[in-house]
Amino acid sequence: MAVYSKIEVYARINFLIFIFLQYSRLTIEINPSTMAVTRTLSIIKPDATKRNITGKINSYFEAQNLRIIAQKRMKLTQEQAGKFYEVHKSRPFFGELVETMTSGPVIVQVLEGENAVTKNREIMGATNPKDAANGTIRKDFALSIGENSVHGSDSEENAQKEIAFFFAESEIVG
Ligand code: CMP
Repeated sequence: MAVYSKIEVYARINFLIFIFLQYSRLTIEINPSTMAVTRTLSIIKPDATKRNITGKINSYFEAQNLRIIAQKRMKLTQEQAGKFYEVHKSRPFFGELVETMTSGPVIVQVLEGENAVTKNREIMGATNPKDAANGTIRKDFALSIGENSVHGSDSEENAQKEIAFFFAESEIVG
């Protein structure tokens, strides 16, 4: 059996550590999805705050590794709700949407994690609870398409706009 000097042993261990570090870096570089930590805006809607289930809803986000890095409870004015949902202004349900969103407190929050926008939409489930998959927030808690317990940004671009609508950068602690 070969007998190695202490220096040879240290040199071999150093070489193995070097190879391991190089390989780890390569894996991260060729797999950028491991680095795609992004943010999304979430709103827990009045139907959920009225039923005191905000903690239950938050546990769905945390169970899927989304971190709540900003959160505040507020009562939206009709003007705020109308502006936030301006894109739906011409829809027949716009009036009902503004009424529903101002009917009680909401929790606005910033969620952070890998592919946060897409992941949050999976966790929420389809807009209409009748179409939502088992185990999603809307399947488990939503009352109707209007009172569907949560809102989540639908794209990276909208996430940035919607986060800026409610939060100053200093209020977001990642
Ligand atoms: P949200 O993800 O907050 O985005 C817009 C909201 O409009 C949506 O969830 C629903 O709550 C609401 N909405 C969409 N379609 C309808 C509808 N047909 N009737 C009432 N509300 C709707």
